[in-house]
Amino acid sequence: MGMRILSGIQPTGRYHIGNYLGAIKHWVRLQEQHEALFFIADLHAITVPQDPFALRQATFEKAVELLSLGINPERTTLFVQSHVPEVTELAWIFNTITPLGELERMTQFKDKAKKKKENENMGLLDYPVLQAADVLIYKSQGVPVGKDQEQHLELTRAIARRFNTKFGETFPIPEALIPEQGAKILSLEDPSKKMSKSDPEDSQLGLTEDPSSIRRKIMKAVTDKGKQVSYNPTKKPGISNLLLIYSLFQGKPMKEVERKFKNKGYATFKKALADLLVEKLDPFRRKKKEIESRQVYVKEILRQGANHARTLAQSTMEEVREKIGLLSL
Ligand code: ADP
Ligand code: TRP
Repeated sequence: MGMRILSGIQPTGRYHIGNYLGAIKHWVRLQEQHEALFFIADLHAITVPQDPFALRQATFEKAVELLSLGINPERTTLFVQSHVPEVTELAWIFNTITPLGELERMTQFKDKAKKKKENENMGLLDYPVLQAADVLIYKSQGVPVGKDQEQHLELTRAIARRFNTKFGETFPIPEALIPEQGAKILSLEDPSKKMSKSDPEDSQLGLTEDPSSIRRKIMKAVTDKGKQVSYNPTKKPGISNLLLIYSLFQGKPMKEVERKFKNKGYATFKKALADLLVEKLDPFRRKKKEIESRQVYVKEILRQGANHARTLAQSTMEEVREKIGLLSL
């Protein structure tokens, strides 16, 4: 069955349409052709301060949301990262073969450390090494992520190669599966930046937002000079971002969307986009309500997911310990 693919998403913040179009939507599609493992990255989330109560709740809620968005537990392994503690052991081992300089030049680290000086802890620097362990412990071959994760994936590949060279062929070199379209949805308030959970509320559109808030945010989304509704990401980043969102949710090629709104003006187009989003997000909101009430069911899925993931991880760790010379009894 295809290749083994794996991806993770942090439980913090509210999922927005960028997370969906750039990542989760592709996971849902890919799980049909591949052996898929998806997890909620709670250990990555604690690299910045978290409220313990909120973290635990968010982790569960995100499992509910992934199921509501179409992750199919019958075919796919869905689990919580910290339920497979072996991954931190592998991260430790990878630490010992990762030059500090490679971590210091990661753009995500630089951004996050710059945002708040007190954020600069070891975990934040080590973040991509734990991510490499996530990918490699399951010997994953493909990793579906948005474009912002490309650099981390490159580091994962470097770590895999280095380990293989030092200790003998162990890990397949995983490939980043980055969608051609939707890999980067931009902020509604500042289209020079990607839409991000950690940015102001009105710059992002949440997946569970109610219709009135969807309409309000879309109507006030930043657009560009001129009147033409046309796709030109360099010259018209704001309107192009909205057109891309329309095209992806509608499942229609950009040319067709442009034709539909030719000579219509920004306000008409925005209204149509808001209508479309209200319609497309509604089933998700309803499904979430339904699954949310089935706590035992969701926990059972996560338990089975962790059991399966752990079996795979333990087998890799036996091999790794043996190869690097740890004593076994
Ligand atoms: P955020 O940056 O909003 O905190 P995460 O870093 O948790 O989101 O990303 C989760 C997944 O969603 C990753 O695969 C990432 O590549 C994807 N993603 C995040 N933001 C966007 C975006 N604006 N456009 C497309 N994909 C995105
Ligand atoms: N760093 C990823 C993000 O913020 C989440 C993540 C953690 C991940 N481990 C991973 C993604 C392993 C892919 C593979 O989006």
